Amino acid sequence: MARKKKLISGLKITGIADRGKAVGRSEEGQVVFVDSAVPGDEVTALILRKKKSFLQGKTMSVEKKSIHRSIPFCNHFNSCGGCKWQNLDYSIQLQEKEAVVKSSIKKIAKEDPAKVLPIMGAGQTRYYRNKMEYSFSSMRWLTETEIKTGEEIKAGSALGFHAPGSFAKVVEITACHLQDDYANTIRNSVRSYAHQNNLSFYNPLEHTGLLRNMIIRNTSIGEWMLVMIFGEDQPEDIQAMMHFMAAQFKKISSLYYVVNLKKNDTIYDQDTILFHGKDHIVEQLGSLKYKIGPKSFFQTNTFQAKKLYDKTLEFANLSGSEIVYDLYTGLGSIALYAASKCKEIVGIEEVKEAIDDAHKNLAFNEISNAQFYAGDVKDVLNEKFQAKHGKPDLVITDPPRAGMHKQVVHTLLALAAPKIVYVSCNPSTQARDIELLSEKYSLTKVQPVDMFPYTHHVESIALLELK
Ligand SMILES: C[S@@+](CC[C@H](N)C(=O)[O-])C[C@H]1O[C@@H](n2cnc3c(N)ncnc32)[C@H](O)[C@@H]1O
Repeated sequence: MARKKKLISGLKITGIADRGKAVGRSEEGQVVFVDSAVPGDEVTALILRKKKSFLQGKTMSVEKKSIHRSIPFCNHFNSCGGCKWQNLDYSIQLQEKEAVVKSSIKKIAKEDPAKVLPIMGAGQTRYYRNKMEYSFSSMRWLTETEIKTGEEIKAGSALGFHAPGSFAKVVEITACHLQDDYANTIRNSVRSYAHQNNLSFYNPLEHTGLLRNMIIRNTSIGEWMLVMIFGEDQPEDIQAMMHFMAAQFKKISSLYYVVNLKKNDTIYDQDTILFHGKDHIVEQLGSLKYKIGPKSFFQTNTFQAKKLYDKTLEFANLSGSEIVYDLYTGLGSIALYAASKCKEIVGIEEVKEAIDDAHKNLAFNEISNAQFYAGDVKDVLNEKFQAKHGKPDLVITDPPRAGMHKQVVHTLLALAAPKIVYVSCNPSTQARDIELLSEKYSLTKVQPVDMFPYTHHVESIALLELK
């Protein structure tokens, strides 16, 4: 017999935890995590899971609304998981993000949270992204309003974002506030073209359907790239659609397509076919210009990226005579930004195409003291590499969310560079690595930076110095 689930009423929400869940405590003192609530709310929660040290639940109703609540600006707020914190004042979002970084530094890195500096907020809180990835699905996610009508609704297909927790269903997006409005024009026109021409939307359960994903990128100097990803190889329909895009979207200066017949969505191992225009778009940060290809990572918030890199250089405090390693360099973004401030800088990145872009960017910016290598940091950063480039005076590291591989931490401990500047998009794994490095390094300071307003994500830069 199914157990009756417990309801907790009057649950006071006191903060936000690591992955954006709201947190409160039950009368018995147990930590309770719930969705759809903000600090200052009092809610009734249905407990769905009981763990030894915490409970996990769902907000059933908000009994008392927090004074920090704000009115969501997006029509898709209730169904799209993208900007979950639209109902929370921006000043409180910043406060919570800073608290998350402090908590990781205290609990995981076992360091003094007073070393965490006040967060650097974003001047622009909407239309700040330079890259969006959309999915086509033959299964549209029904909104709560539609379900409440009680009527039988034919869901049909959708072009938008995956509904939270669903890999198959997609929320139909008609207006998104994250990227310049031209992205809305592109996405909505592509949808209309698809319907008018009876093109099939991808079925992620059966792996059938022509239209699969679409990536739209733009830069602060007005260049646009579109990568259309097809799930079936139907040359006639593909050519017709690409001709339509080239003719319709005059601002797009780089138009690609990919035929991805694999089960997973990643295009890193696929051929990108340039259909029209240049093979890259150009972004500008300060006096530097970056050519960005379709497979290269670039920080998705350009305005904040400049602040992030300026702070990284401030922490690095270079005099001009240093040898610097830039690990997880992407298309060499930080390395190129730092090149004029040091003697030599060497970047390592696993995506080969990003390293090809890094080389193009060297020539593009007439930089001669940077070198780049493609490969996994844990393999490339070996003794031969160190012998060739010399012992670094500084290591800049900017790994993906999983943080650094244990072997890389081990190599850094053996290298014993006087300073490490650790840039991270995940405070937990950053704190874990800081703790591992504490064998030889002391933590001097940490700078949280908000790159993603209205989401729980936070970037942080840590300065570590050899003991
Ligand atoms: C957070 S991005 C940082 C990129 C760059 N520092 C920047 O600011 O644009 C992390 C980069 O690490 C790369 N990467 C992930 N795992 C890697 C690995 N094991 N070895 C080398 N590069 C890796 C990704 O492809 C991505 O370009």
